[in-house]
Amino acid sequence: MATSYNIAVIVGSLRKDSFTLKIANALTKLAPDTLKLNPVTLHDLSFFNQDLEATPPADWLAFRDKLQKSDAMLFVTPEYNRSIPGVLKNAIDVGSRPPGKSSFLGKPIGIISNSPGPLGGVSAAKHLQNILPGISGPILGQPETYLNGVGDAFDEKGNLTKEPLQKVLQQYLIAFAAFVDRQSKIAA
Ligand code: FNR
Repeated sequence: MATSYNIAVIVGSLRKDSFTLKIANALTKLAPDTLKLNPVTLHDLSFFNQDLEATPPADWLAFRDKLQKSDAMLFVTPEYNRSIPGVLKNAIDVGSRPPGKSSFLGKPIGIISNSPGPLGGVSAAKHLQNILPGISGPILGQPETYLNGVGDAFDEKGNLTKEPLQKVLQQYLIAFAAFVDRQSKIAA
């Protein structure tokens, strides 16, 4: 039987009707059997403050624990001002500490950006590719997945109905599943 992997899907928007959250939820439904996708929202994560590192808040510990219990991480993010939202950077800062003990360390990483606009949040995705290498495992490079025009991709219940987007996500998940499996076997 094929190995199954737990994937933390880190959602880069706090918005109630967030397209990013809807994409994360769609991914959970489209994933192959070998991937168990668990969306992780960031509403309860307090600001990183280096003064608190000796006695970390419970919400930091709970977030790090979720990451450590996952086999890999998939970032799903919108773009804010040509970069990633502050809440997502904060989550990365919290997860990256203590020094040398990043909770992302060694974990295969996937990145999917999105935007209702034409560029699909590509700058946010590129910034993640800059931020993560020093604190994470390898990042899946292809297929590059920057979803544009997501504003009309969902029905009133939040289900992904735009077929071309479904196909893109399915293809991404197949590549990501193979990548996670390959990287996990290399690490074993
Ligand atoms: C945006 N938005 C945006 N979109 C984009 O394609 N590139 C950008 O640089 C920005 N910048 C930006 C800054 C700020 C502060 C906001 C609030 C928004 C628009 C953004 O893509 C849109 O609001 C999405 O709906 C946000 O994602 P969620 O919340 O729907 O997941």
